[in-house]
Amino acid sequence: MIPAARLEPLNAAYERHFGVRRREAYLIAAPGRVNLIGDHIDYNGLAVLPMAIRRHITLLSSPRTDATVRIVNTHSEFATRSFEIESGIAPFPPGDWGNYVKGAVQALADRFGAGRGFDAVLASDLPVAAGLSSSSALVVAAALAFVTANDIVVQSLELMELLAEAERYVGTRGGGMDQAVCLGAVEQAALRVDFSPLRLTPRQIPIDWRFVVISSRQRAEKSGGARDAYNQRTQECREALASVLIHLDLPAGVDSYSGLFGEVGASQLLEAGDRVLGGTLRRRFRHVVTEAHRVSEAEAAMADGDLDGFGRIMTESHASLRDDYDVSTPELDEIVEAAAAEGAHGARLTGAGMGGSAVAVCSDETAASLVAGLAARYNGQDQVFVAEPAGGASVTAL
Ligand code: GLA
Repeated sequence: MIPAARLEPLNAAYERHFGVRRREAYLIAAPGRVNLIGDHIDYNGLAVLPMAIRRHITLLSSPRTDATVRIVNTHSEFATRSFEIESGIAPFPPGDWGNYVKGAVQALADRFGAGRGFDAVLASDLPVAAGLSSSSALVVAAALAFVTANDIVVQSLELMELLAEAERYVGTRGGGMDQAVCLGAVEQAALRVDFSPLRLTPRQIPIDWRFVVISSRQRAEKSGGARDAYNQRTQECREALASVLIHLDLPAGVDSYSGLFGEVGASQLLEAGDRVLGGTLRRRFRHVVTEAHRVSEAEAAMADGDLDGFGRIMTESHASLRDDYDVSTPELDEIVEAAAAEGAHGARLTGAGMGGSAVAVCSDETAASLVAGLAARYNGQDQVFVAEPAGGASVTAL
């Protein structure tokens, strides 16, 4: 059952913009995510542990019979966008929200050779550019609107991989974590995402653990200012890998981070990195190796219900993202410290960093006081919330 409160405003906006709704319509909901551990390693092919959250981009979408896509955003900050589906859809100017829609549609049109458009209205309770993956939720929602409009049957793993690639339309050389968790998340669980090949493994979250998200109020625009810094990190990781591979005596065919992990233990890899690399590349490599190791450690702590251990690993991850990866900000550092002072077991920036949000872990008992304490210190109640683990994207025929 779709709550009327969710549908009514969309229906009203639809009728206002497009006139009476066509008979065929779909309600599409795509969740945001908070990454619990494993940042800036998905594009290196290494496993991560995000969780979808009960905050969504919601589309009311109706297929058209021609190749036009029209999409109205109920947030006044974002103007209506429309375009024609064709080969080589030209992007809107850089940073335009409509490019996420174009990226999704282009990738699916290329893959499936289909070209029927849709009229859609969008509502969202997911903060934008807050490190909670509103952009990938938009890509997924637009993709599902196109899939329903064109009666496409696609395996969900294929769709996840396709959309990771599709999002690169905006110019960010991102990994595949966000699209995978948005489509494949399971209620009450975190999701281990492995790559090449893509595999999803739900990990039960102990029922008395709570994850609190705190916004730094600094926007982290993946298709805007943060894009170059992000892409530079991916390049540095490739360079570091290439140097380490040359210097290690490895079996033929080992040419990736995951291949390297299969052959050499984390401590030997760190030694190799220290020996072979200097300066920035040494620190980037150290982050990748230690963060990948922390993902496994954190999974074990979660399985054991070891809240202290999990929190400690999160805080170590933050230090690594701050000191070795240079993607934190003074505001995020301060939030992480404040979270500890207010009773969290650990905290870290989440997602790409350079603004956005932090996530803290605590027990059910301390969640209310942690939220109140952090809201009082900083940003007000709307910027601090308990993130509930949610299931993946859904499509409901109305
Ligand atoms: C962004 C990207 C992801 C991932 C994170 C950092 O959210 O979309 O693929 O690289 O940054 O972990």
